[in-house]
Order: sequence, then C-alpha cells, then structure tokens
Amino acid sequence: MENISDATKLFVDLRRHMWMAGIEMELRRLIWQIGVTGKYISAKIHESNRKLAGFENIYGEEQLALDRSSDDILRNQLKFSGFVREYASEELPDIVQIGRGDEQYSITADPLDGSSLVDTNLAIGTIIGIYKGPLCDIGENDIVAAMYITYGPLITLVYSAGKGTHEFVLNREGEYVLSEEDITLSEKGSIYSLGGLRKDWLPEHRKYVEFLEDEGYKLRYSGGFVPDINQILIKRGGIFMYPALKESAVGKLRLIFELKPMAFLIKQAGGMATDGKKDILKIKPESLDQRSPIYIGSRYEVEKAREFLTKGR
Ligand code: AHG
Ligand code: MN
Ligand code: MN
Repeated sequence: MENISDATKLFVDLRRHMWMAGIEMELRRLIWQIGVTGKYISAKIHESNRKLAGFENIYGEEQLALDRSSDDILRNQLKFSGFVREYASEELPDIVQIGRGDEQYSITADPLDGSSLVDTNLAIGTIIGIYKGPLCDIGENDIVAAMYITYGPLITLVYSAGKGTHEFVLNREGEYVLSEEDITLSEKGSIYSLGGLRKDWLPEHRKYVEFLEDEGYKLRYSGGFVPDINQILIKRGGIFMYPALKESAVGKLRLIFELKPMAFLIKQAGGMATDGKKDILKIKPESLDQRSPIYIGSRYEVEKAREFLTKGR
C-alpha cells in the first residue's frame, strides 16, 4: 500500500499546492486563473493551424495574429477578475487598467513567447510577472510571483510565489498536477544556451563561451526562451545567454516581459540572473520595452560570466 505522502503527492494539484504553501487567497486565484487561460491559448495555437504561422509573407500576419489573439485571451480572462488592476504586455504599447483601480495585483505578460517556432512544432510558452499594486513603479524586488506555461508535448506550468519554484503537468482531466516540487538548481550544470549571432558577439563574451566549450558544456538552444529556460530548471543547472551585441548593447530580450519573471523563478530555485554584471531583479526599468543582456542559470556559470565580462579574463 503506498504510504500516505506518496498518495497525496499524486493528487496535489495547483490549487491545493498553493493553499498548502500558505499563499494568500487572491494570489492563489490569480495564478489559477492564468493557468486556466493557458488552456485557452493552447487551444488557439491548435486551431490556428500552426502551418499558417511563422511564414515571412502574408502568413506573417497569421503569426502576428497568434501573438495578438493570445494577448486578447489573457487580457479578457483577467479583465474585471476582481484581482488584477493593471496589465502590461509585449503586444501592447502601454500599460492598461483592466480593473476598477483598487485591486491588489498587476500583471506583465509575454502572451506567446517563441511564436515564430509554431510552424516547426517546437515548444513555445507564456511568461507572466505578478506585481503588488500598479506597474508604474516597478522597481527593486517588487515582483511577488512569476510563472510560465509551456505548450509542448505536454502542457506544463511552473510558478513561484516566493516559496520555491514548482512544476505542474496538465493531465487529461484538465487538472494541473504537481510533478516537480521545490526545484533546486545544482551549483553547476552541463548545458549552455547561446543567443545572438557569433559574428556579433563582443570579445569578452566570446572568450566566456570558449571557456564553457573547453569545459565540455553541451549546446541546447531552441530559439524559444521558455523551453530553453525550462530545460535549465528541469535539468537542474546550466546557463542561458542572450548577450550584448556589437550593434545592440542591450541584446534582444525584454527586461519586464521576459527577463524579470524568469529571473524570479530561477532565483527561487537557487540560481542567478544578471545582465552580465547587475542582478536582473534589481534593474529599475526606464521604459516598458527596455531590453537587457541576460546571463541566467546556475550560480557557477553566471558568476563565471560576470568574471569574464567585468575583468575581461
Ligand atoms: P517572442 O516570440 O516573444 O518575440 O520571443 C522570442 C525570443 C525568445 O523566445 C528567444 O529566446 C529569442 O527570441 C530567440 O532569438 P533569436 O531568434 O535571435 O535566436
Ligand atoms: Mn518573448
Ligand atoms: Mn511574445
């Protein structure tokens, strides 16, 4: 007979996990609501006949349509939900108020990350940051929770509300069931994810990459930030980099919509996230669409990156 702990572990779904973790009710409901929305976005991806997405000609509209429709679904699901005040998304030019104005939380969203991969059937995802109060004063350490949903062979949801980082798998009954609790990265990993073109890298970044290659790291890069980060979490270590480039000192990825939520999740799993020097969570954004270089993953690799980038080792 399985012992009780195994039996309960089998049936710990997202809501129960958050309740057992003592997360306050409105935040539990918000995280749950976003999880439900992930199912609608997944349905939209399927019905969009993915073959229509990712083309450069008129089908480029279809790809953009998928980004926009994912944003519409997310925003409308949270509108007047009673616990979301403001909403900012990679697909919108400005912050929008979607509540009465006195709700506890506000949301940042990359509604569909990696949409250019839809036609290849590679995994893509949704990235969410959850803040207390209005978004206008996103400063230091005011992100209270973060989550992402991966649309791959399985639909998985990873969240943290400041008490560790945990993964759930959507089962056939439509429940998010706990699969990995308190994910903790090792000090050092064995995979690296490299963004940007090699010809555009700065010398100190190139030297750091060569250092990792001499140490035998294996290259894992899909072009989707969500699955690439998810791989580092689930494999318990490694590093994802999208560096400053010769033509763009800020790299490519968006500080608010992509980097801060992932930095929160990785930090809650014992990892680190910097722009090569500063902690991502400590960077005060100057604008909504601000981009930043990113070095994120297990401690050894991120600290080594800082050495190469600051001391030009
Ligand atoms: P999005 O689809 O939200 O615009 O994000 C795409 C991002 C991110 O998912 C990924 O890490 C990066 O683009 C890949 O960039 P490259 O194609 O330059 O490698
Ligand atoms: Mn993105
Ligand atoms: Mn996107």
